[in-house]
Amino acid sequence: MLNAITLDPTKTGGRAEKLEHGLHRLIVGQEAAIEQIVNVYQLYLTGMATPDRPIGNFLFLGPTGCGKTRVVEATAECLVQNPRAVIKIDCAEFQHSHEIAKLVGSPPGYLGHRETHALLSQESINQYHTDTVKVSFVLFDEIEKASDALWNLLLGILDKAVLTLGDNRKVDFSSAMIFMTGNLGAAEMNAMLTPRLGFDAARESRKLQAGQVDDKLSGKMSRTGIEAARRKFTPEFINRLDKIVVFKPLGTGELRQIVELELSMLQQRICRMSSDRTFYFSVSEAGKQFLLEEGTDMRYGARHLKRAIERLVVQPLSNLIATDQIHSGDRISIDHPAGSPVMSFHRVEDLTTMPEFPPLSEHGAALPASAQATGGLYASEATQVARHSERA
Ligand SMILES: Nc1ncnc2c1ncn2[C@@H]1O[C@H](COP(=O)(O)OP(=O)(O)OP(=O)(O)O)[C@@H](O)[C@H]1O
Ligand SMILES: [Mg+2]
Repeated sequence: MLNAITLDPTKTGGRAEKLEHGLHRLIVGQEAAIEQIVNVYQLYLTGMATPDRPIGNFLFLGPTGCGKTRVVEATAECLVQNPRAVIKIDCAEFQHSHEIAKLVGSPPGYLGHRETHALLSQESINQYHTDTVKVSFVLFDEIEKASDALWNLLLGILDKAVLTLGDNRKVDFSSAMIFMTGNLGAAEMNAMLTPRLGFDAARESRKLQAGQVDDKLSGKMSRTGIEAARRKFTPEFINRLDKIVVFKPLGTGELRQIVELELSMLQQRICRMSSDRTFYFSVSEAGKQFLLEEGTDMRYGARHLKRAIERLVVQPLSNLIATDQIHSGDRISIDHPAGSPVMSFHRVEDLTTMPEFPPLSEHGAALPASAQATGGLYASEATQVARHSERA
């Protein structure tokens, strides 16, 4: 009998695992997308990826505001510590040849040749590389609106990881992750989220209004997206994709977690303001519940929730700062009085009665580690996000 040790091929390496944890902290739900990105990144790290191809070619479909663009930003944030390290191309904006020239530059001899800086030059796509991570992130948004010229350019990148610029220089995309997002099938998916006809319509719409999304509905939406992609795109395009991921609509449970995430990110933003303006805020359970009620609309996903937070928290806080009612070091407690259309804001003077506030750090710039132990805004998930981005 062979003397052998059983190996576990389901375990991922440290760097891929770190990416996975980071993505789970920044993205609520959407496990399929996270898993695909992590797998592809690990193939790249171990040198097992197909040579002369981008690291990964992903097509993300699904309803609006469910995290398609956010996943791409979060991947960049986790790997190169910068959510803006994404070269983003809105396909609808590149219809004509002079617009394509913005991407690849114009041929030599053209008027203005020297002035055109190709958006997709090697320097441009590599500009966010760090000492340790040499990965580029390229996002083609609204792919179904791409013109034929853009389409051909894209097929070359997806297949050979090469793009030829106007002046014939080649750009190598073999260290790039290519993400494409689309709203294909979105109309049908929307119809599923707002059922009007049929036997089950009333019950279904009550469920959806309450933010409940079951596996049956997600599965149906996923099939709709993939079928729409197959109808719209040629097999040669579909064959070049590593994965088509249809994002799930966000239900109340997910939106509730996004409330925590967004409030935590808002606190971080405040902490990064100049130190003489830093303050801390805490939103009560009733306040969070109100944000959730105001911000739940299945058709717009987290976008609607973000607008509610903007209107009910960010804008009033900004008014309070502008009118000198909030000062550096203040602790602001935010609550929702039953029946009110707005939130109430109080400056807390006696800190012993408000244990959930983290102690103000010396410079007010970073979130204090002790926030971890507190019960308020920084609890669980939110704390991890805060600490993660701090490291960034
Ligand atoms: N799953 C999620 N986890 C965490 N935050 C999310 C999630 N989905 C959406 N958000 C929040 O909502 C915002 C809007 O989402 P995003 O831009 O990713 O939508 P999208 O799916 O790309 O929609 P569209 O099809 O309209 O482009 C994000 O910036 C993020 O703050
Ligand atoms: Mg988007």
